[in-house]
Amino acid sequence: MKEVYSIDDLASRERLDEGADQPARLAVIGHPVQHSLSPQLHQPALDEAEAGMRYIRIDIEAGRLADALAAMKDLGFLGTNVTVPHKFEALAACDELDEGASVLGAVNTVLFEDGRALGFNTDGPGFGLAVREEFAVDLKDLRIMIVGAGGGAGRAVAAQCAREGCERLILVNRTLEKAEQLREELAHFFHSERLEGPGDRLVVAPLDSPLLPEEAGHADLIVNTTSLGLKRTDPSPLPGNCLQPHHLVYDTIYNPPQTRLLADAARAGARTANGLSLLLHQGALAFDLWFPGRRPVDTMRRALAAALK
Ligand code: ATR
Repeated sequence: MKEVYSIDDLASRERLDEGADQPARLAVIGHPVQHSLSPQLHQPALDEAEAGMRYIRIDIEAGRLADALAAMKDLGFLGTNVTVPHKFEALAACDELDEGASVLGAVNTVLFEDGRALGFNTDGPGFGLAVREEFAVDLKDLRIMIVGAGGGAGRAVAAQCAREGCERLILVNRTLEKAEQLREELAHFFHSERLEGPGDRLVVAPLDSPLLPEEAGHADLIVNTTSLGLKRTDPSPLPGNCLQPHHLVYDTIYNPPQTRLLADAARAGARTANGLSLLLHQGALAFDLWFPGRRPVDTMRRALAAALK
């Protein structure tokens, strides 16, 4: 058994399952993928459900995703999770997409059914559940500022906020053009029945805007979807004067557990949460797609706590 498998290991069942007592039928594919916690999240839930299968990591280079999915389908995989950098490529490689994956423009979960690859996105709905769990509020009731509305995570979170009908969405990004592009794509969610434009319910701002503290002041929830914070030495993506006691601050980063942003927010008196709850809920929702009716949140929560100890 290996920590990380390659596309060559998908050549045959014998090769893939050498030395293992159960067949690999689920996986996370990414590049790199060795740090993914998905096996630790899913395997205890699979064992509890007596599913009789392994969940493995497969490192697939960009451009080879369709080949990997085809090989997995031939080997009788039940499905797979898809992570960076394949979430967009997976969109094109699937035979069918659910509405969430189409709207979010990315696939993070695949179900193989009747010889077809069905693509879903549980990151968006998982984010909604995570915010509900952490802060006991629904996205639809919030004015939300997304910092990093240019990357994959930012797009998924923003699209989910728009889908759930949030009161106001402020898309902030270092590169303004990417936030503007996203604004175009999401504008239709903010048109009222009277066919008005999105007005000030959907706005964009560059990260260095002098108006950022004022814009932040009008937000209830601030979400970091930039990669700033992954390294312990990283600065906060947001100037400290943007944070106020009334804020709910969610960082999609979970490792390290407290980024500079979250430390600043806590110091400002805001309520904070890290991305562990998003990891948990997107995983439980994926499990439910593979095993309908089963959402092993508690088992997965314990598994994550053990994995991160
Ligand atoms: P992806 O999620 O698609 O892999 P990424 O390159 O990791 O993308 O970047 C994710 C987000 O973090 C982007 O919004 C990016 O801003 P740009 O669109 O301007 O590149 C943001 N980001 C990354 N590094 C940053 C930094 N040092 N300061 C501010 N924002 C940053």
